[in-house]
Amino acid sequence: MSWETLKKECMDCRRCPLWETRTNVVFGVGNEQAKVMFVGEGPGENEDLQGEPFVGRAGKLLDDMLKIIGLDRHENIYIANIVKCRPPKNRDPLGTEQDACIGWLERQIELVDPRLIVCLGRIAAMRLIKPDFRITKEHGQWFDLGNRKIMALYHPAALLRDPSKRPETFVDLKALQREIENCK
Ligand code: URA
Repeated sequence: MSWETLKKECMDCRRCPLWETRTNVVFGVGNEQAKVMFVGEGPGENEDLQGEPFVGRAGKLLDDMLKIIGLDRHENIYIANIVKCRPPKNRDPLGTEQDACIGWLERQIELVDPRLIVCLGRIAAMRLIKPDFRITKEHGQWFDLGNRKIMALYHPAALLRDPSKRPETFVDLKALQREIENCK
């Protein structure tokens, strides 16, 4: 399936009840040939209104974190979410919603074909790395996902709530930067 067909079908998606309360489907943003792909959990209020991932306060922090290691959503990475429509009141996406939506992300991963995937937060890591992923213990560690490598960072919203986690995230970002250099 081409990008064009994928986007068009995803925009019309009614595979789970979240379509009824969405303003926009939040498909993804960035370089469709990026070597690094970031995956969050799902759109919040600002993302739902603007149709782009990570555009609220957490998104601003994400952009600042990316800049430290030379990454930019409009240049060298692609960003998407596990679910493409906002769960009401920003609750965690249900397993059934994730199951209904994950096919879109799987196709995006195939099309981007990144070397590295970075999960933003626990929900994405539990879905893409392993169901018992422990973010406090396993953030910053690399895992194999077929022929790709995958790791998780703390979610930027968690870093806003608890700034004491930021130094660990800086270390993880440096590990990511090294891995990107290794891929060149
Ligand atoms: N949090 C996420 O996980 N994804 C977004 O797009 C925005 C906030």
